[in-house]
Amino acid sequence: MSLLMTEIAVAVSRLAEAGVESPRADAELMAAHRHGVPRSALNLVADAAFNPRFWDDVARRAAREPMQHITGTAYFRYVELEVGPGVFVPRPETEVMTGWAIDRLTEMDVAEPVVADLGTGSGAIALAIAQEVPGARVHAVEGDPLARPWTERNIARCVAAAPHTSGRVRLHDGDFGSALRDLDGAVDLVISNPPYIPVGALVPPEVGEYEPSAALYSGADGLDAIRVVERVAGRLLRPGGRVAVEHGAPQGAAVYWVFAEENGWKETRNHSDLAGLDRFVTAVMP
Ligand SMILES: C[S@@+](CC[C@H](N)C(=O)[O-])C[C@H]1O[C@@H](n2cnc3c(N)ncnc32)[C@H](O)[C@@H]1O
Repeated sequence: MSLLMTEIAVAVSRLAEAGVESPRADAELMAAHRHGVPRSALNLVADAAFNPRFWDDVARRAAREPMQHITGTAYFRYVELEVGPGVFVPRPETEVMTGWAIDRLTEMDVAEPVVADLGTGSGAIALAIAQEVPGARVHAVEGDPLARPWTERNIARCVAAAPHTSGRVRLHDGDFGSALRDLDGAVDLVISNPPYIPVGALVPPEVGEYEPSAALYSGADGLDAIRVVERVAGRLLRPGGRVAVEHGAPQGAAVYWVFAEENGWKETRNHSDLAGLDRFVTAVMP
């Protein structure tokens, strides 16, 4: 066995002892990142090319730092994003909601649909929509000053990789509760992955110790920000416009009622993620 494969085997047991959920995948991904090779070519790395800084990465992961902070990169649909301390790492479940929004925008008979992404973080949702819906104009709102430099860098990276997105994602600083007043009644789709963890809930160390708390927690039942999204979507959407909001798996019924017909919405629906768990609610402005 090559030196690198032997070191990976030791790293796997160290990560497993530290309680990391997928120790082999993580050890191999960090080795591939550190040695600049695809995971499938790890066994071809010559012993002389072994980079001992691999062990710095393993120590960080054993301290439960998120993988994406160690590699500095997260992938979201067709967008590659820079992530690290201060910004939320985008999740695969949010890709499903974003795909739903892209499908609805593509079906709309609107040449340049106007979209609001409330709590954009890394810019994942906004940039994926700009990349996949060619005419879309996306207004991305973010309140955390530590997150915004990441958003700005990611907008620039996305424009470099996909020039057709140039000028179509605009970052707005501030609280989404009072944002985008000049767009009241003119937005085709509002989308948000807001904070939704109840304050005091237990979360894994990767989340609780490394993700910004403004991205995670939202009141005693976790629904404070979702209620704000409902109110803001009611103000921003044009008649027939759509809203999509992500929530935690046990919150499907509660979020359905936030967007119920009694609150002035129609076609309110619960949607699942790829694991079959309740993950987002959509509704239409009458
Ligand atoms: C769960 S993260 C989602 C980030 C990104 N949209 C994603 O899906 O990866 C929620 C984001 O909303 C931002 N946020 C929370 N409350 C906000 C508010 N009232 N106004 C503006 N941004 C807010 C947080 O700073 C964080 O970046």
